Amino acid sequence: MSIYREKVIDHYKNPRNFGKLDNPDIEVKESNPLCGDDIELYIKLNTNGSVADVKFSGKGCALSIAAASVLTEIISGKKLKELKRLNKKDIIKALDLPDPGPTRIECLLLPIKALKLGLTEYLKREVSNSKS
Ligand code: FES
Repeated sequence: MSIYREKVIDHYKNPRNFGKLDNPDIEVKESNPLCGDDIELYIKLNTNGSVADVKFSGKGCALSIAAASVLTEIISGKKLKELKRLNKKDIIKALDLPDPGPTRIECLLLPIKALKLGLTEYLKREVSNSKS
């Protein structure tokens, strides 16, 4: 059974929130070591810590681009603590996919890894700013 379900093809051909943001609160790039593809995420936060705006860019296979696209839809308006709880199941469900298997899961995980890395870096910065 092909992994390229209708929703994957739709998000790949018409990626949502594709582009960059000026002066984002979170800007992060993550690569898939297996293929060298990468995804960049840009997130602006509201003062209450929820996602005000999000964009992504980068190059990747249909699955990674579709996963990044649907991730931007999922996280719009969400609070930081909700973002921390996101995992691959949320992406698999949103894209209406079967289990992608061990190789393709890395494609699917790429945007989530970028998000988690971006959150970690942002929270570290916040802690060090509050100490200074
Ligand atoms: Fe590179 Fe999927 S083959 S992210």
